[in-house]
Amino acid sequence: MSLETSNDYTTPAVAHSVECYLSLVIPTYNESRNIKEIVRILSNLLNEVIPDNYELIVVDDNSPDRTWEIAQSLIPEYPQLQVIHRQHERGLSTAVIHGWQVGKGEILGVIDGDLQHPPEILLQLLSAINKGADLAVASRHIEDGGVSEWSIVRRFLSRGAQLLGLVILPRVLGRVSDPMSGYFLVHRSAVKPGTLNPLGYKIMIEVLAKGKINQIAEVGYVFQERQAGKSKVSWKHYVDYLHHLVRLRLSVGRIGKLRQQLPLPLKRFIRFGSVGLTGVFVDMSVLYLLHDESTLGWGLTRSKIIAAEVAIINNFIWNDAWTFRDLASHQQGAGKRLKRLLKFNLVCLVGLVLNVLLLNLLFNILKIDYRLANLIAIAAVTLWNFWINLKLSWRVTAVDD
Ligand code: GDD
Ligand code: MN
Repeated sequence: MSLETSNDYTTPAVAHSVECYLSLVIPTYNESRNIKEIVRILSNLLNEVIPDNYELIVVDDNSPDRTWEIAQSLIPEYPQLQVIHRQHERGLSTAVIHGWQVGKGEILGVIDGDLQHPPEILLQLLSAINKGADLAVASRHIEDGGVSEWSIVRRFLSRGAQLLGLVILPRVLGRVSDPMSGYFLVHRSAVKPGTLNPLGYKIMIEVLAKGKINQIAEVGYVFQERQAGKSKVSWKHYVDYLHHLVRLRLSVGRIGKLRQQLPLPLKRFIRFGSVGLTGVFVDMSVLYLLHDESTLGWGLTRSKIIAAEVAIINNFIWNDAWTFRDLASHQQGAGKRLKRLLKFNLVCLVGLVLNVLLLNLLFNILKIDYRLANLIAIAAVTLWNFWINLKLSWRVTAVDD
């Protein structure tokens, strides 16, 4: 059976009335030279152990080499094959989730479509699941595992990425020996595909971080050399990987819980404060560039005014895109944005005057040490700035009242 989809996950699922045990997803992009062989091998293998109780789901992202078309032509010979042809989306992880959502299986799985993951290992993964594992992972880094002819550079990059992940998310990546593996089986009940939101290539990290996974089994395998076609990994995947790690770091564990519990005004204030810190850095740098003897050597007042204005613009950009993003999204258009910037500028100027007044009050009248006095003044003015900006610069005017 085949279905064409746009980018929604709610495509009416295929008319599979019988529940099935295993939904195995094969993500493909330009695998026209491998698809036939992998479907043949996997079907033969699974027909031996769970005939009529599995489905193979090829999810192809509109490959230029028309992998999806070849896959569709195999359906008459392999009735348990489904082909999903995504036309408006690209990405390994989201392709896998799409396949899982369309699938009916109690056990969800994924295997690369290029034969670099040896198919026969699947039987060992299945038997680990039968013995009670919630997640069964094919691993390159345990006994019987390895990579074939990888260069030093590639091994270093792969291990480096793993190490970085271990530093950022030790409790997630530390649970398996090969968290980068894209070859595994997991219980549907442990992951709920709808709650996953991965980025890039490394879907198992998402599964480990968000799923309810108690028992994990690992099976060693040797990552085969590619016989046909090319790897799709590019530098962009390393950036995605890092982004994915940071996003998970902030959304799971204690930090995630804390973030969820913070009331919105406090969340906003923390953002506003962080943006303020970047502003201090920008102000200092510009002041140095303009005023320092070793650079331009301009007058102090002139330099400070420019430095402050650059910092204000910096802060505005971040606050508009982050701190008050939700409010800004209701007031789109260049004109409205310029208005916000002018108001923000005005509030900052008033804030500066208040800052000087407060500093004088604390230092001259209350006789507080000038450094402490300055800190207090900065804290008070930041609060004031935050409040006034929220109420004035980013205020959304209600239309019907
Ligand atoms: N649908 C879809 N969309 N499939 C994709 C995309 C995409 O954007 N990009 C890649 N694929 C498919 C490929 O066609 C292949 O079947 C599989 O995903 C893996 O892609 P490769 O480009 O061959 O990756 P690799 O060989 O470097 O790395 C793989 O092996 C690692 C080691 O186990 C990946 O699967 C990793 O996840 C895995 O950890
Ligand atoms: Mn590959």
